Amino acid sequence: MATNKKPGKWKKRTLAVRGGQTRSPFQETSEGLFLTSGYAYEAAEEAEARFKGEIGGYQYSRFGNPTVSMFEERMALLEGAPVGRATATGMAAVSAVLLSSLRTGDHIVAAKAMFGSCLHVVEQILPRFGIGYSLVDGEDSNAWEKAMKPETRLLFLETPSNPTLSLVDIAAVAKIADKHGARLAVDNAFATPALQRPMEFGAHIVIHSSTKYIDGQGRALGGVILCHQDFLNDHLQVFLRNTGPSISPFNAWLHLKSLETLDVRMKQHCENALKVADFLAGHNKVTRLLYPFRPDHPQHNLARAQMDGGGGVVTFDVAGGKKAAFKFANALKLIDISNNLGDAKTLVTHPETTTHQKLTQEARAALGINSGTLRISVGLEDADDLCEDLDQALKVA
Ligand SMILES: Cc1ncc(COP(=O)(O)O)c(C=O)c1O
Repeated sequence: MATNKKPGKWKKRTLAVRGGQTRSPFQETSEGLFLTSGYAYEAAEEAEARFKGEIGGYQYSRFGNPTVSMFEERMALLEGAPVGRATATGMAAVSAVLLSSLRTGDHIVAAKAMFGSCLHVVEQILPRFGIGYSLVDGEDSNAWEKAMKPETRLLFLETPSNPTLSLVDIAAVAKIADKHGARLAVDNAFATPALQRPMEFGAHIVIHSSTKYIDGQGRALGGVILCHQDFLNDHLQVFLRNTGPSISPFNAWLHLKSLETLDVRMKQHCENALKVADFLAGHNKVTRLLYPFRPDHPQHNLARAQMDGGGGVVTFDVAGGKKAAFKFANALKLIDISNNLGDAKTLVTHPETTTHQKLTQEARAALGINSGTLRISVGLEDADDLCEDLDQALKVA
């Protein structure tokens, strides 16, 4: 690689645009897309030395790729993490963290309010390998402490959670992890490093579905793991290299370039979401409204303490249950029905029948999901158009 600018004490927005960039001898301004599976060596001796780790350089894109490295480095700088590794999806990142570091006899404590596939890995896959788990009310710091066992190695949570925007006090749970010699892993997909940096509050590992706000335009799947060097050396690196959940260089390039606009996009997502939340809160067909940066959110103070903005997701209950929720969704003229989130386009989903369909009724009730619950991923359109669409659809509900 040719010349690089030398990062000084760059602030986050500068890091999001320039952090981690390496240039080829062509001195391209925009980061290069190295769509290659393999790398050639000048001589057999060089190949041997690279495989022995005696000299640097890439060997095979399952192990590493220059475009992927730029994405990993930029994400690490934004999260304040020593190192990062990108994966094919957010779920590949979650699975790699759990499966690379836990072994038979170990125990994990996780928050109940978690994305359905994460719960599946904890409840269905880990026990097959003799790994025990306890699910706790993530909002209750005492519940985390009580669930700890001598064999607990990992604590795992997402905040804000999907879809009920429940928060966990990251600093309080990180302290519990430290006290018991365990690690805390935080899924930061909803907030992104633009709004929340869990390592600043003591988390040891941060996980992302970069499919969501990091891509920001609903184009490509991806995931990222941010961690300390010892976790990478002792667990993650060998696991990733040999099991192969690698991100495509193309997807890494899309997400790398998207980081350049993450901060401005997240600001607009937050501004639009707050306007939508305020509109819905005043509507007579809305029986519950959840948005972390509104004073009526039950954990509003915590939201202000650990987040720089409320995020782009607003969750609400419409009066009249599933029938009304479906009528509302079907009546939308601008907003799309889609279970994805973090897109520039506003998307609405009915968690009971989509993202959380596989959970039991009791499990959904425990998470605060009922038949009238709708989740809106508020996009980047004009907020007035969004409110107008919501208004006309609520009239039909
Ligand atoms: C909080 C959270 N974590 C993880 C995932 C999984 O990410 P991916 O779909 O990229 O595998 C999702 C959504 O799909 C999510 O909402």
